[in-house]
Amino acid sequence: MKIVITGGLGYIGSHVSVLLIEKGYQVIIVDNLENSTISVLDNIKKITNSSPIFEKLDVRNSDEMEFFFSKYEDISGVIHFAAYKAVGESVNFPLKYYNNNVLGLICFLKFIETKNIPLIFSSSATVYGDADVIPILENSPIKKAFSPYGKTKQICEEIIQDISKSNSGFKSVILRYFNPIGAHSSGLIGELPNGVPQNLIPFITQTLTGKREELLVFGNDYPTEDGTCVRDYIHVMDLADAHIKSLEYISKVKKEIDCQVFNIGTGRGYSVLEVIDTFERVTKRKIKFKITSRRQGDVAVSYADCSKAEEILEWKSKFTLKEALASSWNWELKNN
Ligand code: NAD
Ligand code: WQD
Repeated sequence: MKIVITGGLGYIGSHVSVLLIEKGYQVIIVDNLENSTISVLDNIKKITNSSPIFEKLDVRNSDEMEFFFSKYEDISGVIHFAAYKAVGESVNFPLKYYNNNVLGLICFLKFIETKNIPLIFSSSATVYGDADVIPILENSPIKKAFSPYGKTKQICEEIIQDISKSNSGFKSVILRYFNPIGAHSSGLIGELPNGVPQNLIPFITQTLTGKREELLVFGNDYPTEDGTCVRDYIHVMDLADAHIKSLEYISKVKKEIDCQVFNIGTGRGYSVLEVIDTFERVTKRKIKFKITSRRQGDVAVSYADCSKAEEILEWKSKFTLKEALASSWNWELKNN
């Protein structure tokens, strides 16, 4: 099966590409290299011992996308990762985010919709905002998002669902990732944060290597056991496997259901202090940290109910937090 992966040289896309190749899929990676480097392609080749097709394209370029979809025939599916993802940046540059995340989707959707090529879309737990009920179920109300980034994901989901309703031949799956962490066991691919990391795990690894002075823990006055926020940290290789299971599902399912949405997490939440403690035990090093005030937009607790993915996709996370953190540390060490 020939699968197109937009944003396939990025953090999640590169891990999905590796797993797809290992499972025998033919992979065509599309990326404009705006938030990745061509060395990722070399490392995918090293890990898999094979050469996926790579097209340096911008998904917003309609002419290029038209040419692309006429060049490659018999595409069995598209996994769409290409987007911007920095929540804070999206607050300062909303148009940049609407342009890439929403327009980018619309631009290539028109080509795959007419050919009824199935779509797997990267969404985010951020669409739930501050959920009323924990663990979060897929039918939890979609509340007003805290950031333009979150809004782009909500809008994209609606676009996909509308098309799904209007076109009886178009099949799609929306995956709402919780907090992706970790890296491939080879240490050859992983997350490459741009500038100062905004996310907890890369900030911790960079603090441990001395690149950052100390970790600031954003608030210890939340209504949680130790006062720090609780999140559902999912190993990127488990996440990659969820895409394989989605492809298998989409190839089997009849088009009686419009568009399926799945939570992709572990179903278990850990506080920031628990993550720090686990990291210290994994690395046998002390993490320098200080409690500071809350970060705007953070919700106290977010973790998934993943029973729908377990039942329908036959997918379940396998890696522990310890294993995921160990892989992040291995990646950081190999990159330094
Ligand atoms: P990433 O930035 O590492 O990867 C995105 C890739 O897409 C990059 O290689 C970038 O160069 C490419 N790209 C961006 N705009 C493009 C365009 N217009 N045309 C072609 N290529 C383009 O991000 P990631 O962490 O791998 O995230 C992948 C997807 O998953 C995104 O849609 C993101 O919103 C979503 N997501 C990520 C997280 C997370 O924490 N990493 C959580 C939930 C959802
Ligand atoms: C985790 C916890 C922070 C950094 C984000 C996006 C979400 C999704 C995943 C894309 C929180 C705390 C963090 C630090 C800290 N991405 N923290 N000090 O905010 O749950 O989710 O990434 O879709 O949309 O919002 O992840 O890793 O930033 O934070 O104390 O330096 O760590 O307050 O409780 P978050 P995160």
